Amino acid sequence: MTGGAGYIGSHTVVELLAQGHEVVVLDDLSNASAEALRRVGEIAGRDVELLEVDVTDEAAVLAALERARPEAVVHFAALKAVGESVEQPERYYRTNVGGTLNLVRAMDAVGCRTLVFSSSATVYGAATQMPLTEDSPLGATNPYGWTKFVVEQVLRDVAASDERWGVALLRYFNPVGAHPSGRIGEDPRGVPNNLVPFIAQVAVGRREQLTIFGDDFDTPDGTGVRDYIHVVDLAEGHVAALAKLAGGGADGDGGVRGAHAWNLGTGTGSSVRQVVAAFERASGREVPVRVAPRRAGDVATSYANPARARDELGWVARRSLDEMCEDTWRWQSGNPQGYAAS
Ligand code: UD1
Repeated sequence: MTGGAGYIGSHTVVELLAQGHEVVVLDDLSNASAEALRRVGEIAGRDVELLEVDVTDEAAVLAALERARPEAVVHFAALKAVGESVEQPERYYRTNVGGTLNLVRAMDAVGCRTLVFSSSATVYGAATQMPLTEDSPLGATNPYGWTKFVVEQVLRDVAASDERWGVALLRYFNPVGAHPSGRIGEDPRGVPNNLVPFIAQVAVGRREQLTIFGDDFDTPDGTGVRDYIHVVDLAEGHVAALAKLAGGGADGDGGVRGAHAWNLGTGTGSSVRQVVAAFERASGREVPVRVAPRRAGDVATSYANPARARDELGWVARRSLDEMCEDTWRWQSGNPQGYAAS
């Protein structure tokens, strides 16, 4: 697993270990923490091997795969800040697209052609027709989004060129929440870009108030509507996709081949004000807000039609918005400075 020390990766390691998989993590720790993996080991009752590898280092990626000899790869390692991607596009393409190319080449060299890719609902661009299905038109509105769009196309082309490849393009909606143990969770560096980590830092007293980016959208309460999904549901989606691709074959092959996109969302949208209210209930703290103009590039509404993942992977998101907030709060209140204190 690349990026296995990060937010979604660490939660996915927990679920894979619980299913009896062996996991080796590649991570450069540039936006992740070895402490997260140590805690994953505590939760799972066994240690996880970490190889400190930067995916842009082609030789290091190959050496790591030669050592790990994986049956399948789950690829999370990437940069993910939209605003930063506008400032530093070259770095985003190098890491997200170039890193994936290095990985594909190394996988081919070691004869592993089963890949689960961390894509995003961002590949639906500025689509306005809801809910989004996997057949909705694709696009992007910023360099980060284009990197996901391009990598999806690369992987579709790779899978079309050689029938031994099986690729899952998992399009995440808005991952939030934390492991119910409260031991691992999202630990953004600097000012959080995303809504729930920001709210959590307000509730715990690290920041004064939430800025709501626009309350004049065409939505029931005027604030933006998104499809928030519990990170543990998301992690379970990766296990399901891997099972579909691996097909139980001893060599990790023998399952479904070709490239397949699956939405991982709940199918239900929540507004910014609904999330704030749910978080206040979960935490028992007040979350002061102020309203500011819309953030550039934000759409009014985005939510998934998750039927294809249900029908083809047998996976559905089960956890409610209240659970997402309760689990975020358990993590944030128990670790007010994230992993830094350890
Ligand atoms: C954002 C990215 C998306 C990326 C995803 C990764 C943009 C435009 N989109 O999605 O490309 O895939 O993160 O997690 O950056 N909000 C506030 N105040 C805040 C933060 C957010 O009101 O301080 C609002 C937003 O306007 C939006 C909602 O909360 O309506 C969710 O925002 P966010 O968590 O940033 O997710 P997305 O915008 O959906």
